[in-house]
Amino acid sequence: MPKDIAIYYATMTGNSELVAQRAHDAAKAAGWNSTLHNLCDAKPDELASNAQIALFVVSTWGDGEPPSDAEDFFGALGTETPDLSAMRYAVFGLGDSDYELFNGFARNLDQRLSELGGKTYMARVEADREFDDTYAQWEPTFIEAINGLA
Ligand SMILES: Cc1cc2nc3c(=O)[nH]c(=O)nc-3n(C[C@H](O)[C@H](O)[C@H](O)COP(=O)(O)O)c2cc1C
Repeated sequence: MPKDIAIYYATMTGNSELVAQRAHDAAKAAGWNSTLHNLCDAKPDELASNAQIALFVVSTWGDGEPPSDAEDFFGALGTETPDLSAMRYAVFGLGDSDYELFNGFARNLDQRLSELGGKTYMARVEADREFDDTYAQWEPTFIEAINGLA
């Protein structure tokens, strides 16, 4: 399998972008052809053609909702039915456990990707306020997991 990975992020205040950038740098350092995409520019029917291995780094806002930039993407993903059966993906969510719908968007996105046929290569992470530490611990397992797919 080619070592291509697409890393998508959805953010309001930049935390998810920072994490996605770190994952992108780590993947490149491990020899992957990684591309970084803001979900506000993504279209559901492009997911499968960008790369069959994907990582989604997304925060939750409002009341368990996507960052406003990603609302159009997620709305379209809810009505369109791209075939994601060849996609292997993981979701790294950022949230705050003071909110009732902790990591709500990460959960909903994971569920929809799975409904569309996507298969995970790692269980979803639901990071809390100390997302930096959670990411640092997770990064080596992420690299090991994608290397196992190549
Ligand atoms: C107004 C507001 C609403 C939020 N709503 C939620 C929520 O419903 N669930 C959750 O887990 N986190 C919620 N958060 C926390 C953010 O997801 C968290 O701060 C995250 O790190 C932001 O990442 P970003 O900069 O990539 O958007 C909320 C934060 C704010 C300020």
